[in-house]
Amino acid sequence: MPAGIDDIAVYIPKLYVDATDFASQRGLDPAKLQKGLGVSQMAMVDTNQDPACLAANVCLKIIQKNNLKPADIGRLYVSTESSIDESKAMNSYVIGMLEQVYGSGVFEHCGGVETKFACVSGSYALYDNANWIRAGEADGKYAIVVVSDIAKYDMGSSGELTQGAGAVAMLLNDCPRLLEFDPRVASTSIKDEYDFYRPTGKSTPIVHGQYSNLLYLIQVRNALEIYKRKAQETGLIEIGQGETVLDHIDYMCMHLPYSNMGKKAFAYLLRHEWRSLPRWKSVVDAVGMEEPIPNNIGTIETILEDRAFMEKDHHFNKRLVETKEFKKEYNAKLASSLRASTMVGNIYTASLYLSFRSALEFEHNRGTDLAGKRFGFCSYGSGSSAMIFSGVICPQYREVVEPMNITAEIGERRRLTFEEYEIIHENKRLPNNPMLDTSKEFVLVDVNTSPDSQGQRRYVYNE
Ligand code: CAA
Repeated sequence: MPAGIDDIAVYIPKLYVDATDFASQRGLDPAKLQKGLGVSQMAMVDTNQDPACLAANVCLKIIQKNNLKPADIGRLYVSTESSIDESKAMNSYVIGMLEQVYGSGVFEHCGGVETKFACVSGSYALYDNANWIRAGEADGKYAIVVVSDIAKYDMGSSGELTQGAGAVAMLLNDCPRLLEFDPRVASTSIKDEYDFYRPTGKSTPIVHGQYSNLLYLIQVRNALEIYKRKAQETGLIEIGQGETVLDHIDYMCMHLPYSNMGKKAFAYLLRHEWRSLPRWKSVVDAVGMEEPIPNNIGTIETILEDRAFMEKDHHFNKRLVETKEFKKEYNAKLASSLRASTMVGNIYTASLYLSFRSALEFEHNRGTDLAGKRFGFCSYGSGSSAMIFSGVICPQYREVVEPMNITAEIGERRRLTFEEYEIIHENKRLPNNPMLDTSKEFVLVDVNTSPDSQGQRRYVYNE
């Protein structure tokens, strides 16, 4: 039985910090954010929003858009790394909020859990729910996978440049209008690592930035090796002489902690795929220098410590992305997927799916006929695991993609002053004192502090 994504919705909070304001306050060149990282605006939550609110709002959006009734939905998963409770799952809060609109108990039949593995858990949730559908367990019902996160780093840290907030909901079924998953090729790589993690009780992560960048690249490449083997073994892709598996994937969507990380990762994969092919000679000629080799391949630490190699390698990459060979691939397969991320920033679990949403809209706007095109998804979660899977755009996709307009979907936004940003970041304003008035949205009313009910959250749907 086929399984795939029937529809996709995005919810982005309406406050943002502009990269230029941020840079001027932090004494940085704005070009470091805009050009170096690919961050123009970072979405911020209001004082009365938490990751469960974002999840409920995007869930309501996709339900209403598709005129679904609660009885049509068999599973509701929420994937996040911004968990608000050590035990109670985020989807239970979402069910509670949705029942304020649809009636008490109407989702009782529905199953689901919160999943966690940094930014990759949404991809595991998609995979599990696709298999629930493939196994014939869905009984004609939809699964909804929501990915929702608030990326918040310590003030003054290098991670502070890559914040953001938002949620994406994906509606899955056995006759999708948008994308059908390729069967038996989802590929994973996993390793116990401390590149980025958030110990229990801490509201911001501990980050080893450059280590996390390199680990992301390595893990995604490991997963691609497995994908390549599976794609050939299952007969999905036949890789001819002089070809790479990437020649058979029309579009790539990458996890985007910041938009330029997608470009970096794509270049890394191409470089490793092209190295053994005849075309590599002309690429190296165009780069104008030999590809550097590390003195000691050992560990990520030894590679990072090998400063001379890292510098040469950085230089090589900078030149590689300027070659016509790279630019052709980049413009054809990746560029459209990076656009929405520059407006929103990092949304952890949701970043990969915002990139998919972005590619659909901007490729369609370019006049591309997407029917039958294969999308590859490169998911990465710190800690660490990567997952690669793929799918093909369905013939009826236009019905879903034609109305897409990310600017309209985000809605009117308010640019925060730097002072307001700091107040929100440091939780100096309470949920009862939001920056914005909202309507037709769920908001957080308060969090109980009494010993018997500590941590209980009240939400309301603002008509
Ligand atoms: N003009 C133009 N570009 C500039 C510039 C300027 N004035 N100044 C710097 N740049 C460029 C740099 O050259 C660099 O680009 P290249 O790597 O392509 O050369 C880019 O801007 C960033 O500069 P730095 O590497 O010096 O930045 P940094 O070390 O201060 O911070 C970071 C970058 C490590 C990503 C940091 O923001 C961070 O720690 N972020 C959080 C962790 C993260 O996002 N890791 C990504 C992988 S892990 C993951 O993906 C999971 C997740 O979601 C967190």
